[in-house]
Amino acid sequence: MNITVRQGSLTEAGCDALIVNLFEGVKAPGGATGAIDNALNGAIAAQIADEDFEGKLGECMLVRPVANFPARQVVVVGLGKLEDFGVIEIMKAAAAAIRKCKQIKARNVATIVHGAGIAGLPAFDCGRATALGSILGDYEFTKFKTENVKKSEIESLEIVELESGKIADIQRAIETARVVGDAITFTRDLVNEPSNIVTPTYLADIAKSIAQECAMKCSIKDREEFQQEGMGLYAAVARGASAEPKFIEIKYEHPDAKKTIALVGKGITFDTGGYSLKNTDSMYRMKDDMSGAAAVLATMRAVGEIKPKVNVLMLIAATENAIGPNAIHPGDVVKSLSGKTVEINNTDAEGRLTLGDAVAYANRAKVDEIIDLATLTGACVTALGTEISGIIGNNQRLIDTLISKGRSTGELLWQLPLHTDYKDGLKSDIADLKNTESGGAGAIRGALFIHAFVEGTPWVHIDLSSTLTEKDAPLAKQGAVGTGAGTLVEYLLGYAETAE
Ligand code: BES
Ligand code: ZN
Ligand code: ZN
Repeated sequence: MNITVRQGSLTEAGCDALIVNLFEGVKAPGGATGAIDNALNGAIAAQIADEDFEGKLGECMLVRPVANFPARQVVVVGLGKLEDFGVIEIMKAAAAAIRKCKQIKARNVATIVHGAGIAGLPAFDCGRATALGSILGDYEFTKFKTENVKKSEIESLEIVELESGKIADIQRAIETARVVGDAITFTRDLVNEPSNIVTPTYLADIAKSIAQECAMKCSIKDREEFQQEGMGLYAAVARGASAEPKFIEIKYEHPDAKKTIALVGKGITFDTGGYSLKNTDSMYRMKDDMSGAAAVLATMRAVGEIKPKVNVLMLIAATENAIGPNAIHPGDVVKSLSGKTVEINNTDAEGRLTLGDAVAYANRAKVDEIIDLATLTGACVTALGTEISGIIGNNQRLIDTLISKGRSTGELLWQLPLHTDYKDGLKSDIADLKNTESGGAGAIRGALFIHAFVEGTPWVHIDLSSTLTEKDAPLAKQGAVGTGAGTLVEYLLGYAETAE
């Protein structure tokens, strides 16, 4: 879908479908929608009354225009209540409208900028949300469907704005939305692919091609190499895997950079639980256990394009968590890269093991900040559901920044407390630490385990409970949501203009 902006009037937009909007409860459309209604001799207002169209967020109504009207169809999308309105609502409305356009097989679509001039929202924010919501609403994963695939592709989306003073902002907004949207859809694709395709080697190959395209350094360490280097926690998880594990590293450097940010993604390409085996139901979706890895890879792809004035070190300790003759047993003790020993009392808490070593590796590389993204705990899903991810860390400024960057891309993050008293529960009888302890607060305890390897570096952990949606959601169809990529790309876009 090619997105452009045009200065002009919506009434003149020649297209298959024209998208306008309406707040909930409004019976007589005003503004741009009112202008269209006038051009259609009041057809919108009449149909609102006939059809009981309420304008609820994402509700769509089709209006067939009068003869000689340049648009073939008009889609009126509900914006919900004015008092609840913000950029996320714009994204949801845009996504719903695009889905409606696909349904009616429109190829060329024109749209109003949702929300412009309302509730003090800047044109840039409204433009970005309109474009990004459209990109996300357009996304489908149909790669493996060979039957009954009705391919309906939207070729172009033209954002029409009357005020010439807003055009430059909207143009910039479209560019941002494209970069962020690309990152999110790339993440979705990678997470939606099954584990018989997405192996650690597959992730390593993607890393190599991203690095090559964007002239970044990429290094891949095989089992022997990372084991020898002392990554005992990661090596322990990888022991049961027959698909070869790969420690993946991409380095982006900018000449004006004042600091280095490490992005660490959990890359378990399938999580059976190991000998602490998962049951059928909880194992089913575990191809998504590399969502963190997918998001950081997508981010590096965007980094190559936006060229932020900051160094970025991406790390993924990729492996399957499987059973087999060499797999670790619950109760085994191993030594981490940091030197701490760990009793693995539950082989299903494997993510924190791989991340513990990856975080220690980032510290050795003397990074200034560590952000890790991981589908770490089912407990976080229980706490927050699948529409919000958890965020926790030792640096409030960074947490606040990431929460606000996330919101602008539709990714909701909720902070959990880093309650260090709970660390007592991670003491082992025979080693420095054990990897799990029962007794609630599973998401916090998982984060506290990683924290043991952070050594005072500013660090934020995102527990990706919202990586997957089991049913169609406003911004994502059933399947991968792509969470994390939007937040990280927006965060790094902040470094595109200035080096902090
Ligand atoms: N990958 C899972 C976490 C997970 C489960 C994320 C379900 C999303 C949905 C992780 O490796 C895991 O198995 N965690 C255990 C930890 C427990 C053994 C302390 C869990 O959450 O059950
Ligand atoms: Zn697990
Ligand atoms: Zn896992």
